[in-house]
Amino acid sequence: MIESDKTSKTLKVAAEKDMLLTARTMPASFYRSREIYERSCDEIFARSWQFIGDTDTLTAAQPQANVIPLTILEGCLDEPCILVKSADGLACHSNVCTHRGSVLVEKACHVASMRCRYHGRRFGLDGAYLSAPGFEKAENFPGPEDNLAAIPLGSWGQFHFAAVNPAFALDDLIGEIKERLHFLPLANFKFSPELSRDYQIKANWALYVDNYLEGLHVPFVHPSLATLLDTKAYRTELLPYGNLQIGVATNKDDAFDLPESSKDYGQLIAAYYYWLYPNMMFNFYPWGLSINVVMPQGYDATLVRFLTYVWRPERFGNYSVEGITQTEIEDEEVVHAVQRGIQSRAYKSGRYSPTWEAGVYQFHQLIRKSLSL
Ligand code: FES
Ligand SMILES: [Fe+2]
Repeated sequence: MIESDKTSKTLKVAAEKDMLLTARTMPASFYRSREIYERSCDEIFARSWQFIGDTDTLTAAQPQANVIPLTILEGCLDEPCILVKSADGLACHSNVCTHRGSVLVEKACHVASMRCRYHGRRFGLDGAYLSAPGFEKAENFPGPEDNLAAIPLGSWGQFHFAAVNPAFALDDLIGEIKERLHFLPLANFKFSPELSRDYQIKANWALYVDNYLEGLHVPFVHPSLATLLDTKAYRTELLPYGNLQIGVATNKDDAFDLPESSKDYGQLIAAYYYWLYPNMMFNFYPWGLSINVVMPQGYDATLVRFLTYVWRPERFGNYSVEGITQTEIEDEEVVHAVQRGIQSRAYKSGRYSPTWEAGVYQFHQLIRKSLSL
C-alpha cells in the first residue's frame, strides 16, 4: 500500500470512530416502513450475495440430476434460478423463459437441453437460446436478451452463494473468513437436519440482525452463556461487508485447538461469530458451524433458518445445539420487545455504545449507503 493510501485509510477509520461516538441509531420509522422494506428487496437483497446451500443438500434429492431449480431468498426476493451441474462445476441461470416469462424448470432433472413447456423454446445447459417454434420470421432474432440471464454464483468449499445483481465481489464478503479459518477442514462439516430448524420471528429483519451484532446484551439476556465467555476479551473486528465477533472462552475445554498457523494461536477462542452483509451469520464452534439465514417475509415478519453442520461431535459441550436454541429463544424475546417498542410515538432513535455497538453502527451505515438514506 502506498503511504498516501495508508494515511487516507487511517483518517477514514478515525472519522468513522468519531461518528460512532456521536451518531444516532436507525430511526424507529425505518423498521416500521413497508415502503423502505420494499426498496430494501431491490437495493439490499438483490444486490448482495445469498447463501443457497451446500453441495450435498442441493444435490441429495436427485443425485443424477444436472439441472436443479431453486429460489433465491424465499419470501423476499423469490428469484427463480436453476443450478446446472457439469464437468466444469456449477453454474447458475435465471429460471425464467425469455419468451413470455414462464418458469422454465419445475423439478430437478437430467437433461441435455431445457425446453419451455409453454411454447417450446429451447435453451442449452449454458443458458444459451437454441430454438423457438414460430419465430422463423422474427427479425433481429435471437439476440443476447433471448439467452437465460446469468446469475453470479460463488463457492467456498461445499457452500454456495448466488447474487442477482451483486454490488460487491464475493471475496469482499468471505475473503477474511477463508484466510483466518484456513485450517478448518470444511469438507468434513456435515449437514445435520435433526439439529437444524426454522424460527418465525414477528419483527423486522433488521432488528434481528441488530441484536446479533452486539455483545452488550449478553450478560442481561443470556446469563448462562455469559458465564462461559470472558466478556472483557469479547471483541468485534470490522470487515468490508460484515464483521466478526470473537467469543473468548473462560475454560480451555470450550476453546478451539488452534494450529500455530492461526492468527489467533495461543488464545482461547470459543466461537467466531461472523455476520455477512446483509442477512447471514456463520458461527464457528469447536464442534462445527451454525449458519443462520435471516429471511425477511415482509416488513414485520422474518424467518430465521438455523442450519447446523457438525464436524467434531465430541466437542459439543457447553456450546451445544441445545445451548444455541436456548440463546435463540432468549434473543427472540428481546427482538419481539423491540418490535413492540418501535411502534411507540415517544421513541425516535437512540445512541450507540462505543464499546459494544461498532458492529451495529457498521450495519446501519451499510444500509444507509445501499438505500441512499
Ligand atoms: S414462455 Fe417459454 S416458450 Fe413461451
Ligand atoms: Fe443474543
